[in-house]
Amino acid sequence: MNHALGSALPTLPFSWYVDPAHYAQELERIWYRDWLYAGRASLWTREGDYRVFTTGTRRVIVLKDAQGELQAFLDSCRHRGSALCTAEAGRFATGRITCPYHQWSYALDGALISTPRRPELAGFDPADHGLQRVALACWGGFVFLNLDPAAGHSLEAAFAVEMAGVSSWPLASLRSAHRESHVRAFNWKVFWDNYLECVHCPGVHPQLCDLIPVYGTGQLRLDDAAGVQGSAADVEPRLREDARSWTPDGQCRLPEFANLDPQAIAPGMRFATFVPSVFMVAHRDYVRTVSVRPIDVAHTEVSIEWLVHPDADPAAIDMAHLTDVGRTVVLEDARVSEFAQRGMAARPDGAGVLMPQEYDVRAFQQWVAARMRGDALAAPVWEGDVRVEAG
Ligand code: FES
Ligand code: FE
Repeated sequence: MNHALGSALPTLPFSWYVDPAHYAQELERIWYRDWLYAGRASLWTREGDYRVFTTGTRRVIVLKDAQGELQAFLDSCRHRGSALCTAEAGRFATGRITCPYHQWSYALDGALISTPRRPELAGFDPADHGLQRVALACWGGFVFLNLDPAAGHSLEAAFAVEMAGVSSWPLASLRSAHRESHVRAFNWKVFWDNYLECVHCPGVHPQLCDLIPVYGTGQLRLDDAAGVQGSAADVEPRLREDARSWTPDGQCRLPEFANLDPQAIAPGMRFATFVPSVFMVAHRDYVRTVSVRPIDVAHTEVSIEWLVHPDADPAAIDMAHLTDVGRTVVLEDARVSEFAQRGMAARPDGAGVLMPQEYDVRAFQQWVAARMRGDALAAPVWEGDVRVEAG
């Protein structure tokens, strides 16, 4: 099926990428309302381990409680609002969270348990002053948070199609081999605009186009070209014939996952996209996540993590072979994304125009616009059924 846009449509206004006031509204209407990826559950190993997850001005404490469950609370004391965490990660070794300001203490389930130096106070019930809980969902070992207490959609409801595509990978048991973060000078939407098209691929990603020949044509799928028909198996982007994974030589040096759904792995990789915070690519021998976090209107943190089979011997992993292609693509994309940001800032009252293959950029931008209007769309509706790594 040809998804090409049939007429010249405008992009979002450039002001949406450079105006701090608009950025603040996007935080409120998108980032503070959607499911956001916070990391692998294996980051928390012992009772009391915590990490602070920050989006915009919102700080969330994610901790492991006495029952071994992950809990999430806003990092704000119920007395006069102080931040509770004095470090971005650590351990509440005593099983208590104690405010650094006036030493109110909370249990790991958020209950207020101690208020030192407080005389009797009429109308004050500690049970009414527990930490404010943040919704947390764990799928396949991936931890997601939702800051909206009234979020109307579950993680599963928002991303059922994406989850189904990678359901035959042993996601929950994967082990992290390497993780790295890069803060780069572009608005978070530039990341997704870029991920969702491959018009840039021939000029930006020579190595990737060698691995996946259709990308070298500037198309996500073969049927993006006029007149091309065929089943999904014919038109999906796929690895060149002698390649089995996204590695410099196209070969796997790690154990391949057993029992993958033959249809899911037929192209050689499977994408799952969780806008606005993360996408993952499942390969035969590893799974890679690329997550984004807005820093300000013109800066975004991009983090990449490589997840491998739990039986893979850490000492035996050829880290360069595993990470080179994924890192190269992310940094190639970051370079042109910074050019995009710089150019939009030079013409902040302008807008661009979408080319026919940029149908999923259109889908993403329409979703952003709908969310800014206040519509409750949980996730974009993609035109193509396979995401491409431009990301
Ligand atoms: Fe936390 Fe006062 S603000 S105890
Ligand atoms: Fe790219």
